[in-house]
Amino acid sequence: MFSTKTNGPRRGRSFDSIHKYHVENQHNNEMNKSTFNHTNENQDDSLSSKREHAAIVFSLKNEVGNLVKALKLFQEHHINLLHIESRKSRRRNSELEVLVDCDSERETLNKIIQLLRKQANIITMDLQDRQSTTEDAISEEPWFPKKISDLDKCANRVLMYGSDLDADHPGFKDSVYRKRRTYFADLALNYKHGDPIPRVEFTEEEVRTWGVVFRELNKLYPTHACREYLRNLPLLTQHCGYREDNIPQLEDVSRFLREQTGFIIRPVAGYLSPRDFLAGLAFRVFHCTQYIRHSSHPLYTPEPDTCHELLGHVPLLAEPSFAQFSQELGLASLGASDDAVQKLATCYFFTVEFGLCKQEGQLRAYGAGLLSSISELQHALSGSAKILPFDPKVTCRQECLITTFQEVYFISESFGEAKVRMREFAKTIRRPFTVRYNPYTQSVCVLRDMPSINSVVEELRHELDIVGDALQRLNKCMGV
Ligand SMILES: [Fe+2]
Repeated sequence: MFSTKTNGPRRGRSFDSIHKYHVENQHNNEMNKSTFNHTNENQDDSLSSKREHAAIVFSLKNEVGNLVKALKLFQEHHINLLHIESRKSRRRNSELEVLVDCDSERETLNKIIQLLRKQANIITMDLQDRQSTTEDAISEEPWFPKKISDLDKCANRVLMYGSDLDADHPGFKDSVYRKRRTYFADLALNYKHGDPIPRVEFTEEEVRTWGVVFRELNKLYPTHACREYLRNLPLLTQHCGYREDNIPQLEDVSRFLREQTGFIIRPVAGYLSPRDFLAGLAFRVFHCTQYIRHSSHPLYTPEPDTCHELLGHVPLLAEPSFAQFSQELGLASLGASDDAVQKLATCYFFTVEFGLCKQEGQLRAYGAGLLSSISELQHALSGSAKILPFDPKVTCRQECLITTFQEVYFISESFGEAKVRMREFAKTIRRPFTVRYNPYTQSVCVLRDMPSINSVVEELRHELDIVGDALQRLNKCMGV
């Protein structure tokens, strides 16, 4: 999931640069150059793949001695601090937010982060190993994940997570719930690509909350959900334990999706920036929360929870044409400007989250935000909601609403049609290269010169040979 409120941090160097991609890119270039020079001067360091650059933003109670106590942790672990900034929290008056830019070995950084968590709320972490920084400096291309394991570098750049809930969150005053949220956040933050997703023993209260959501939504699906959703939901009951009295495990769901469409699930601690979230889609990786909404409001959640992910997103991710549409949105975002990413994120919002389609003359929902919200699902299909045809050029300018129903919904005839429109729109995004996904290596090839384009042509020739051979054999069988 991603936050539509902000583009969030990519490689934060100061509080002010966190939300400004262009400014940040300048900073990155400067940082890359200086880091590149630095590694040349320190050959031993550059050979150590474990050494990392980290920007950590954390919040503390604004009390005498708290900042010194936090910074002392770095000193005690001999971590060199390159840059420190502090400011009064914009979210809570009683807190102080601190940005620390440092350089250390990964193991030491992991240790310090664990210790820091005991006295502070970590708002964002941005880890970047030196090897990739050096590659960036050479290519002068904006950094983006090139292989699926690169998602380890951006999946933890969450904007808010754990027990750090807003004051109006239903679980804000519930210390047990907040502790539970920290548990889920830690599971996600410690996750690395290739690990099995940890199985969770859900509490009776969590299962009850899920049960209410599951039961109420299932009453609406036959008349409100699109046919692809209705086709896949029974398969999830059969293979992943989708039941009123059982919360499915993300690992089982991920295995099922991999077999259906190649999509896999990755647990995430909280909101990701649109850039980092869309980057996951490029690799057919869907970032999913694992926590359950607060039990006091089973039919309301101020942020996506696992009910939203499992009931809203997963059934459609098992659909090949929808999976392809989602991946193309992700591929279009890689290395794109901040403005372009925002437009793609808005298109994502009004399709994958709030999209409608028409099937057999009936209006149906395929957006996860609708399929996981009883009231908005009823509203969108009530006949009184404003509905426009999905056109990325128009849709990308529509405001995304978080706390109220959308002012307008966009309708597509099919995922195929939405994909064609998005593909045309993606061509208008200014980027000095195009990208192609290689499913064998789960990596992204950047096509910006003739050798890289020729290698694709070679692959296509081979594919066409297979098609030609198949046609020839078919003709022989039919006696043509
Ligand atoms: Fe979502």
